[in-house]
Amino acid sequence: MDADTVLTTTRSVRRKLDLTRDVPQDVLDGCLRIAQQAPAAGSMAAQFRWLLVRDAGTKAEIARYNRMTAEAAWAKYGHLVERRALESAQHLVHNLERVPVLAIPCMIGRPPADAFSQSAYFGSAYPAIWSFQLALRARGLGSSICGYHLQDHEADVAAVLGIPDDVQQISLLAVAYTTQRDFRPAARPDLASTVYFESWGAADREPVTSGAGPAD
Ligand SMILES: Cc1cc2nc3c(=O)[nH]c(=O)nc-3n(C[C@H](O)[C@H](O)[C@H](O)COP(=O)(O)O)c2cc1C
Repeated sequence: MDADTVLTTTRSVRRKLDLTRDVPQDVLDGCLRIAQQAPAAGSMAAQFRWLLVRDAGTKAEIARYNRMTAEAAWAKYGHLVERRALESAQHLVHNLERVPVLAIPCMIGRPPADAFSQSAYFGSAYPAIWSFQLALRARGLGSSICGYHLQDHEADVAAVLGIPDDVQQISLLAVAYTTQRDFRPAARPDLASTVYFESWGAADREPVTSGAGPAD
């Protein structure tokens, strides 16, 4: 699978996770080694950890907290979400304990308050998370972020897993082989509505002289 294909077809997989197939640790290790190559801001690199959960009882406890928050959120905001996306999210939440591996990326130290430090903090986690997801995809596995419990049950899940108070769970990923190999690029906004040139809101693709041409 070439790089562009992996980059454009790594979807959030929820319904097509194979809940019956074991995920060998050496396959996960290969993906985690690739994730370790992701960029991270200076000292933050040393603060990042993965916690992998396979135990059925532990997954059931995590899933229960995840479900409590998700269902409360859907009761309030479910009507704002596209029906297909909602049903897909619901499917995963209702089957989370059956997913072979739950991967929880964590950062030692709580999130800082200012935008610069927040950028370094979360920006030192998500490149690794995405690299992990891409590496899974390249090996016939899939994943979806499913972090509902972070809203009001992060401490409960931390207690289940023995995570210390000063460690932040960044997210939670459901990881499994996928029941199909082919995934397509998703519909996304076109560049004209999301890319500006030179000033905010300017979407015209007029050629602009950069002034950086050859000296002669
Ligand atoms: C930071 C972040 C948090 C997310 N949280 C959830 C989540 O809690 N539950 C879920 O079903 N999907 C979650 N997602 C996945 C998005 O819903 C998904 O990326 C989006 O629906 C687009 O679908 P695609 O990934 O297949 O392109 C999250 C994605 C990101 C990047």
